Amino acid sequence: MTSSSLPGLHPAPTRHARLVAWVEQIAALTKPARVHWCDGSAEEKETLIADLVARGTLTQLDPVKRPGSYHAASDPKDVARVESRTFICSDDAADAGPTNNWADPIEMRDRLDGLFDGCMAGRTMYVVPFSMGPLGSELSALGVEITDSGYVAVSMGIMTRMGAGALEALGEDGTFVPAVHTLGAPLAEGQADVPWPCNEQKWIVHFPETREIWSYGSGYGGNALLGKKCYALRIASVMARDEGWLAEHMLILKLTDPKGRAKYIAAAFPSACGKTNLAMLQPTLPGWKAETVGDDIAWMRFGEDGRLYAVNPEAGFFGVAPGTSRNTNQNAISTLARDTVFTNTALTADGDVWWEGLSKPVPEGLTNWKGQPHDPTSGEPAAHPNARFAAPAHQCPTIAPEWEDPRGVPIDAILFGGRRASAVPLVTEAFDWEHGVFMGSTVASEGTAAAENAVGEIRRDPFAMLPFCGYNMGDYFAHWLTLGAKADAAKLPRIFFVNWFRKDQDGSFVWPGFGENVRVLKWISERLEGEAEAVDTPVGRVPTRQSLDLDGLGLSETALATLLDVDAEVWTEEAGMIPAFYETFGDRLPKALWSQHVALTHRLDAVL
Ligand code: GDP
Ligand code: PGA
Ligand code: MN
Ligand code: MN
Repeated sequence: MTSSSLPGLHPAPTRHARLVAWVEQIAALTKPARVHWCDGSAEEKETLIADLVARGTLTQLDPVKRPGSYHAASDPKDVARVESRTFICSDDAADAGPTNNWADPIEMRDRLDGLFDGCMAGRTMYVVPFSMGPLGSELSALGVEITDSGYVAVSMGIMTRMGAGALEALGEDGTFVPAVHTLGAPLAEGQADVPWPCNEQKWIVHFPETREIWSYGSGYGGNALLGKKCYALRIASVMARDEGWLAEHMLILKLTDPKGRAKYIAAAFPSACGKTNLAMLQPTLPGWKAETVGDDIAWMRFGEDGRLYAVNPEAGFFGVAPGTSRNTNQNAISTLARDTVFTNTALTADGDVWWEGLSKPVPEGLTNWKGQPHDPTSGEPAAHPNARFAAPAHQCPTIAPEWEDPRGVPIDAILFGGRRASAVPLVTEAFDWEHGVFMGSTVASEGTAAAENAVGEIRRDPFAMLPFCGYNMGDYFAHWLTLGAKADAAKLPRIFFVNWFRKDQDGSFVWPGFGENVRVLKWISERLEGEAEAVDTPVGRVPTRQSLDLDGLGLSETALATLLDVDAEVWTEEAGMIPAFYETFGDRLPKALWSQHVALTHRLDAVL
């Protein structure tokens, strides 16, 4: 079949000639059975879902218990982002840097041409126009994802402003990031489909110079919903470097104190380290109010008033299900009440979803994420540890009224953090911006199930951007330093480092976490107001025992010491590990960060 006779290819619902030509070109390469331009309407969603149900990809949940909601079970080999299969194909390998997989762009294009030739045979090619950020905002940017997965088209409809509005915003000549996705599972004439088609081989490829994305072989999460990690972080970080802004792996939270003073806080934690939970925090302290602006990504730019403004480029939450419960995150539970797609959770006997941590005791008659009867004695979880929900952000009961404000929200504080069982205090304030950038550059965290790396092993994850920075991370540090140096220091957000994950000798968490994290946010907010005390330590400013509101927590003195004391010997060891990491960047590492390291060792030597 030639592309010109392909059902659905013509007439295109746009006069954007470049877009139409690109869609024709991709159709000619991938050879789908038909083409569908997504308009994002409710009727279209219904049709897409009906088709996915017929194929066995989606199972409808009980429409009374969970209206408009569906369950998908992925192929067991397609459950998380595949960092080892993710490539930054800059012209020069040095521009991808030591933390990314680089591949030669010319060779990669050759390989992709082969892989994508006929890859959509027997399937529908969906053309999915989307806006990252509120439609029409100057802080927003447009993209078009071509995919042969109906599940991806539906998920993009939840996670982005998808369809006719985005196409209209593109006009006849607007700029868009082209993103091509295939499951890599062409169907021969008469061949039966499987519920979760994918390919053993996976390639998640970015061309930063031409701002293109190509994804092959996976249908899951960040590998396949290309607006999220591939565009809003990897490609956008390159755009941000070139245009003087920031694309970050950060939640955005609005915190209002009992006097009605509001602060906007952005926080970067690695995947599965507490962003969604903090973004939806339910304060345990009376009079404090927390509202949600975003839970995963922040695009930030300095405004004319010299302050840093942030927008959440997404329209939905793609959150970790396990561990989410009424006790830990009631707001997430309420958000998921309807119109949600769950992937790799367990199913209950009465047509609802379940995951570890949701409720006790474990319900009888569960079907695990692999579709088998759950055996609680097996030691295997019923839900995959990286089971996820995709839910519209507007369903969150704490969504901030300004979450779609095209101007963004002015950021008062930036938090870095990670999962650290030892060494790192509950909260530390940076001495200044440059010291804060040093802190961000040295984030280390225990691996989680969000990616296919070893769970529990500590790895450096600078700015929680290790898997998401689309260029040389040394240049990225320099970009942060430059923006700070150009700004009015008094208007810069203050920088803090937090750690909810300290463990005692028995391996239990010392800090209660979740809603109680508001106690740390209270201290931060009072620091910003000049009201809370801190002590200077070699690693930064930590709360005095009196300045942190610990009323009613019943923490022992040992626990407090674990959370707040800085052990100079342990930190000397920590600091000793930084040079080996910094050296991997060679001369791309800003000298100012080396100076920060030297200053840290001097401060440590002075107290030892
Ligand atoms: P995200 O992937 O960064 O958005 O992280 P989530 O907010 O989804 O949390 C990931 C996992 O960490 C979940 O299992 C949460 O229950 C758990 N978690 C989140 N916040 C806390 C906390 O304050 N303390 C503890 N102990 N666990 C937390
Ligand atoms: P997370 O987002 O940060 O909520 O885990 C998805 C991911 O990073 O893979
Ligand atoms: Mn993330
Ligand atoms: Mn999250």
